[in-house]
Amino acid sequence: MPAWGEVIRGRAQRWGPRMSPRWLDGLQSILDTAQTAAWLAHEGLVPDPMLEDRVAVFEAMARTAESSPGRTVYLEFGVYRGDSLRWWSSRLTSADTRLFGFDTFSGVDAPWTWQTHMADFDVAGHVPQIDDARVEFVEGLFADSLPGFELPDRDRLIVVVDSDIYSSATTVLTWLAPRIRSGDLIYFDEFKFFHDERRAFAEFRDATGRRCSVLAAAEGLRSVAFVAT
Ligand SMILES: C[S@@+](CC[C@H](N)C(=O)[O-])C[C@H]1O[C@@H](n2cnc3c(N)ncnc32)[C@H](O)[C@@H]1O
Repeated sequence: MPAWGEVIRGRAQRWGPRMSPRWLDGLQSILDTAQTAAWLAHEGLVPDPMLEDRVAVFEAMARTAESSPGRTVYLEFGVYRGDSLRWWSSRLTSADTRLFGFDTFSGVDAPWTWQTHMADFDVAGHVPQIDDARVEFVEGLFADSLPGFELPDRDRLIVVVDSDIYSSATTVLTWLAPRIRSGDLIYFDEFKFFHDERRAFAEFRDATGRRCSVLAAAEGLRSVAFVAT
């Protein structure tokens, strides 16, 4: 019987120098997805159904939010050019809904993967044009803007975390912990990366004892939505 650990280590040493960072990033992404899937299963959070894309996950969240009456506050952490915020602004039609988009709009000085540096999200301070008076932008690093942010009265929160890296997700979830209530919805746009949003979420659950059920997922666990229970 070959010692598989030795075989794989030997091959990695031989072939590693010839592999491009992009190829290795792809391999890492597959391993991350496997680890995240195993973690979800271990926590009893197996996503069912798996939907085709994040818009389908957003739609499942919107329908869940609409299934009970009351005022919705939507918080998006990581806006960039506004694609997801624009979708939510047109989907949540109630006049008393408020939507907040948090971002520096100048990128963040942090590495993420080999292919993405968070500074690449620099849009020179321009907030997206969204023709909806209910939308407000909160500019700055989350760590600077959240302490002064007054969360409006609401019956439910929809929280979209799309800020990619662990430190940003941790800042958001630490702020959210004492404010979250049963029935609130939390979505992660890069959940499959084991050491980033997934890790921040695991630590949030451990620290708060907050239980969540999984609502839906898509795109190989990239997009995952939870309901606070
Ligand atoms: C992937 S983009 C958001 C994409 C957007 N939600 C969409 O779907 O079009 C990530 C954004 O998160 C922002 N971001 C990440 N960490 C942040 C932090 N700690 N404070 C403020 N903004 C942050 C970056 O500036 C970047 O614009």
